[in-house]
Formats: sequence, C-alpha cells, structure tokens
Amino acid sequence: MLKAKIAVLVSGGGTNLQALIDAQKSGVITSGEITLVISSSPKAYAIERAKNNNIEYAIVSKKELGSQEAFENKIVSLLEEKEIDIIVLAGFMCILSKNFTDRYPERILNVHPSLIPSFCGEGFYGLHVHEKALEYGVKVTGATVHFVNEIPDGGKIIMQKAVEIDENDTPETLQKRVMENAEWIILPRSVELVSQRYTKGN
Ligand code: GAR
Repeated sequence: MLKAKIAVLVSGGGTNLQALIDAQKSGVITSGEITLVISSSPKAYAIERAKNNNIEYAIVSKKELGSQEAFENKIVSLLEEKEIDIIVLAGFMCILSKNFTDRYPERILNVHPSLIPSFCGEGFYGLHVHEKALEYGVKVTGATVHFVNEIPDGGKIIMQKAVEIDENDTPETLQKRVMENAEWIILPRSVELVSQRYTKGN
C-alpha cells in the first residue's frame, strides 16, 4: 500500500503541524505521510518544526509574489511536483480562492478553533475566535475539522470536539485548552480518516 502524500500549509507557530508529526510517530496516522510543509511566512516557527523532523518545506509569500493568482499557482506547482494527495491547513492564515479549492474537492482539510457554525467565516482566525466566544459568553466552545470549499469555514464537517469554558478564561487560556483538548486530537484523527481514502495500491 502506498501512503497518501500529505502537504501541511502553515503560517505561524505550527503546534497543529507538531501534533500531526507526533501522530505519525505514535501510529495515530498510518495511512498518510507528511511529505511537504508550505509556509506563507518566512518567520513561522512551523518551519523549524519541519526542519527538525527532516520534512521538506517551502516558503510561499503572497506579498513577494504580488497576487492571489501567482500565490496559488506557486502552491499548486509545489503540490503537483510532490504528487500530493491531501492538503491540511494547520493555522494557515490565507484565504484560498474557489479556483484553488475546486481543484481539490474533499482533499483539503482545515482545523478551526470553534464549533462551526459559531465564530467562523471571514475575519475569524486565531486568538480572535476565542475573544469573540468569551465576549458572547458561550459556555461551551471547541474545535472543528472540515473540508475546505470556496466558502470560508463552510465545507463539510469531518470531526468536532467540545471544550467547556471556565469563568476565569482569558482568550489565551481558552486557546491553549482548545488546542490541547480538541485541535491536537481531532486533526490527526481526521487526517488519518481522510488518508485512508487516498492510499494507492493494495
Ligand atoms: C490554531 O488554533 C488553529 O485552529 C487556528 O490558528 C491556530 C494556529 O496555531 N486557525 C484558524 O483560526 C483558521 N481559521 P498553530 O500554528 O500553532 O497550529
């Protein structure tokens, strides 16, 4: 059996990338293999995580390339070069156009730090999502892994996990708990589940 080839797209700290690397080592992910990391920022600590684990990486900066089209074309060419089967957005802070998402139906996964359809869509990313959840006063939040289509956070849900909000939570403490208790668990499990669909041979 040939494992599904996975590309992980990142922009920041890369703790979800780390969870995927760890899951591959511990046997939670067996049907797929992280083959490439693409960072939208040269400063992302996620790059160090790729280096430390001998995973090939590339930096693709929209700013340098000048347009969304050139940015996406560069990503597509890297994905094609490495014959990538599955794309995981793990803290990737760039919106991808319909042109891009249509190329990979049910092959792009995203992890979002809330229970979709709450606190999601354009403008809801990172710490901001937790600020909004606390501001609203919800008592339960969590994380969602979903397929990516042209609607931001609008694709079919793969897995969700709830996390209770503590009355003393700050955006930072909530973010940490949602990551530890939800994101780092359901992202690797979802990646394994989807990888099983895209293995080749027997
Ligand atoms: C994670 O909490 C992820 O769910 C979120 O950004 C953080 C990235 O952390 N993603 C979004 O908000 C996407 N809309 P990481 O770089 O340490 O994995």
